[in-house]
Amino acid sequence: MTTSPEPTELILVTGASTGMGAATARELASRGFHVLAGVRRESDGEAIATTNLHPVILDVTRAEQIADLAASIEADGRPLRAIVNNAGIAVNAPVEVLPIAEWRRQFDVNFFGHITVTQSMLPALLKSRGRVVMISSLGGRLAQPTYGAYSGSKFALEGVSDALRRELAPHGVTVAIVEPGAVRTEMVGRGGVTLQKLAAEMTPEQERRYGGLMHAILAQSEGFLRDGVDASEAAKTIATAATATRPKTRYTVGKDAALLTRFARLLPDRTLDRVLASALRPLFPKSR
Ligand SMILES: NC(=O)c1ccc[n+]([C@@H]2O[C@H](COP(=O)([O-])OP(=O)(O)OC[C@H]3O[C@@H](n4cnc5c(N)ncnc54)[C@H](OP(=O)(O)O)[C@@H]3O)[C@@H](O)[C@H]2O)c1
Repeated sequence: MTTSPEPTELILVTGASTGMGAATARELASRGFHVLAGVRRESDGEAIATTNLHPVILDVTRAEQIADLAASIEADGRPLRAIVNNAGIAVNAPVEVLPIAEWRRQFDVNFFGHITVTQSMLPALLKSRGRVVMISSLGGRLAQPTYGAYSGSKFALEGVSDALRRELAPHGVTVAIVEPGAVRTEMVGRGGVTLQKLAAEMTPEQERRYGGLMHAILAQSEGFLRDGVDASEAAKTIATAATATRPKTRYTVGKDAALLTRFARLLPDRTLDRVLASALRPLFPKSR
């Protein structure tokens, strides 16, 4: 009987219980890496564990879990080829409506979590001349109404990633940003639950201002579930971003992200406002 050789390099993927994180962990494991797949619950780890795919308990908002993982990576001794900062949540509501605690929760996971993980893994990455992959979003280049907190966290992540890339280039560590458009994962359903809960808490006046918009945004995100690309397709791009010898600075996933990130770069703000408004208009409730 022949057995596959033990992988010689480690890759960490955060938020690997579902969606793109789980698919990326599987993709990288199949490419022969020892994948440390961050999950928050033992049961999620048991569900995804397979050859080369090793769950680790990691909540990116828990500094002590991050520090423990960094110590065990150092003790392992194999080079850390890459980290994929993928964990994320979508907390969507109009700026006026979203409680400040929810703003902080959004940034704690999508922004500060990735900074803490990156800082803690940098000693190992500097040693291995490894790679940081940041999972941003189309929403990191273009902010739809009600996406203020989500896009705020992703725009911030894009800015930090650019700074990090320029800081680390002389030291052999590369940084790649991935900007997915609509991908069929758990996120749309989870974000929809949060949005509906916040919609139910609006004052009557806020409901008059934003009710139609929130209805349209929910309908649009249901369309993402129908038309989005499969997580396994996104995982191939993310795995390339993590392992290519000469990575691009940015990768998009899906035709929507390829097109709209270009629009965001080229079109004047007012034109972009009209493009986004006309995409949402047919989704407003008819009676309003
Ligand atoms: N789906 C899309 O259309 C889309 C588009 C653009 C960008 N993205 C980005 O892609 C990334 C992955 O999202 P997805 O679409 O694959 O969604 P998903 O299926 O909901 O996966 C999100 C992952 O993040 C984890 N997570 C949430 N809070 C965490 C925390 N505090 N610490 C560690 N892990 C945490 C979740 O774990 P639990 O199961 O424990 O909650 C889950 O594993 C996110 O950064 C998201 O913003 C998604």
